[in-house]
Amino acid sequence: MRSFLLRLSIILLTQSYNLSESATSECTLTGNSLENLTSILTTCQEISIANLQVPAGETLALYAQNDSIITFEGCITFGYKEMTNFLVIIHGNNITVIGAPGHLIDGDGARWWDTFGSNGGRKKPRFIQFQLKNSLVKGLNVKNSPQHCFSIFESENVILTDITFDCLDGDTQGGHNTDAFGTGYSKNVTITNSTVYNQDDCFGINSGSGHVFTNNFCYGGHGISIGSVGGRENNVVENILIKNNTVVNSENGIRIKTNYNTTGIVRNITFEDITIENITTYGFLVRGDYRNGGSAGKPSPGFELSHLTFRNIHGTVQSGGTNVYIFLADGVASNWTVENIKIVGGQRRVRCSGIPSDSNFSCEEQNGGTKQYL
Ligand SMILES: *[C@@H]1O[C@H](CO)[C@@H](O)[C@H](O)[C@H]1NC(C)=O
Ligand SMILES: *[C@@H]1O[C@H](CO)[C@@H](O)[C@H](O)[C@H]1NC(C)=O
Ligand SMILES: *[C@@H]1O[C@H](CO)[C@@H](O)[C@H](O)[C@H]1NC(C)=O
Ligand SMILES: *[C@@H]1O[C@H](CO)[C@@H](O)[C@H](O)[C@H]1NC(C)=O
Ligand SMILES: *[C@@H]1O[C@H](CO)[C@@H](O)[C@H](O)[C@H]1NC(C)=O
Ligand SMILES: *[C@@H]1O[C@H](CO)[C@@H](O)[C@H](O)[C@H]1NC(C)=O
Ligand SMILES: *[C@@H]1O[C@H](CO)[C@@H](O)[C@H](O)[C@H]1NC(C)=O
Ligand SMILES: *[C@@H]1O[C@H](CO)[C@@H](O)[C@H](O)[C@H]1NC(C)=O
Ligand SMILES: *[C@@H]1O[C@H](CO)[C@@H](O)[C@H](O)[C@H]1NC(C)=O
Ligand SMILES: *[C@@H]1O[C@H](CO)[C@@H](O)[C@H](O)[C@H]1NC(C)=O
Ligand SMILES: *[C@@H]1O[C@H](CO)[C@@H](O)[C@H](O)[C@H]1NC(C)=O
Ligand SMILES: *[C@@H]1O[C@H](CO)[C@@H](O)[C@H](O)[C@H]1NC(C)=O
Repeated sequence: MRSFLLRLSIILLTQSYNLSESATSECTLTGNSLENLTSILTTCQEISIANLQVPAGETLALYAQNDSIITFEGCITFGYKEMTNFLVIIHGNNITVIGAPGHLIDGDGARWWDTFGSNGGRKKPRFIQFQLKNSLVKGLNVKNSPQHCFSIFESENVILTDITFDCLDGDTQGGHNTDAFGTGYSKNVTITNSTVYNQDDCFGINSGSGHVFTNNFCYGGHGISIGSVGGRENNVVENILIKNNTVVNSENGIRIKTNYNTTGIVRNITFEDITIENITTYGFLVRGDYRNGGSAGKPSPGFELSHLTFRNIHGTVQSGGTNVYIFLADGVASNWTVENIKIVGGQRRVRCSGIPSDSNFSCEEQNGGTKQYL
């Protein structure tokens, strides 16, 4: 029912106007100033952001009226300043955000990149925050984020589709923590048919429910993540479907990580039909020991990880990596379905713990059947 309604609303949204027709000139924000933004937002529901140079240190804050259509056209650029706010915020209800053919939202992140990401060095803006309800974001073409790219926050019933996030330059120019899609405090966010080249999570969920991540291609980052969960105001992630995605040349394939010495719930998560390729560290990872980007040494017991399904996950890990690593305290995990996992190549042996005994899943078997551990 839900997917039918979503699909219907996409059809209605995309048919209700001519994609190649621009907003009127009074409703077009262009040039190198935001001085007309407030009047455009109060008088227009069909807004065009066209060949705009956002002044250094300012935020293109699109608090749109209900039922607005916002189209990005041409090249959108940003002046350079150290700052921690977002470069763009898009907020509203029943909003359609469209990237017109040929447009580019270019963060020119190299001006901020210093290999430290959000952990230090220059103060870097985050790129785009969506705070949307009942909305569609389609066809955005985004390049070189200073740090985190899309933050989907306090949102409900949002579809993001046909998004390209190309942060490949970060590989050689010091990009770090360039997470593609991150979401928290949200419900029913669907991300589909999108392509990511970056240096951190392709998709990460800190809290929320009802999210769908399908048909996406992730290259070069840290893979698809639930977490890290724990230690925030909301520490529940549930009813998530992650299906038909490909993760290539990344640190991890798929993972779930909960923060050490925190509490929370990770429930009813499905990872299905995932292809991984040339993963450096972990193909399939579930860990309860996460602290400060690394391990606290042991997993902590404050979580429930139940009703998890891992099905049809296959591909390759580099020889220095580990195919499968599950590191959980005894008793936190229950009711897992693990079927048809074929991850090969990793030679680094690890000892797993906390796998539910009735899941019929053996970490040793996945890691070469040996009892040698590092
Ligand atoms: C999210 O989707 C679920 C299942 O379709 C639905 O029951 C729920 O009302 C939706 N939540 C919101 C906030 O729209
Ligand atoms: C949409 O706009 C283009 C260019 O203005 C025009 O050629 C085309 O006929 C329009 N299509 C519809 C369905 O109005
Ligand atoms: C603001 O809008 C007015 C009226 O449409 C226009 O004359 C002016 O050039 C605009 N300012 C900028 C910076 O685009
Ligand atoms: C905008 O939509 C929200 C959610 O449907 C509604 O609560 C609000 O009253 C609407 N605002 C206006 C100005 O119509
Ligand atoms: C949502 O906005 C579109 C315009 O983009 C409008 O045609 C439609 O009626 C709105 N839907 C609702 C439920 O208000
Ligand atoms: C995503 O792509 C699939 C396959 O091409 C298509 O069926 C589906 O409608 C697309 N989804 C959206 C939301 O556009
Ligand atoms: C899986 O995703 C790919 C894009 O990565 C798409 O081409 C294909 O149609 C999807 N398959 C299904 C069954 O939706
Ligand atoms: C589990 O999550 C799926 C989405 O992956 C949802 O369709 C289903 O209703 C959820 N089950 C329960 C019991 O909430
Ligand atoms: C766990 O967290 C509590 C406070 O939340 C703190 O007092 C305690 O020292 C922590 N324990 C460890 C082992 O980190
Ligand atoms: C695999 O990843 C390594 C970096 O970890 C890279 O040097 C190599 O080119 C990749 N292999 C392929 C086939 O892309
Ligand atoms: C696992 O979950 C299913 C569906 O909710 C339930 O029927 C079954 O009893 C659970 N099994 C265990 C061992 O908890
Ligand atoms: C456990 O896995 C083995 C090997 O994959 C399979 O042959 C067996 O049927 C499975 N047993 C159950 C209860 O799922």
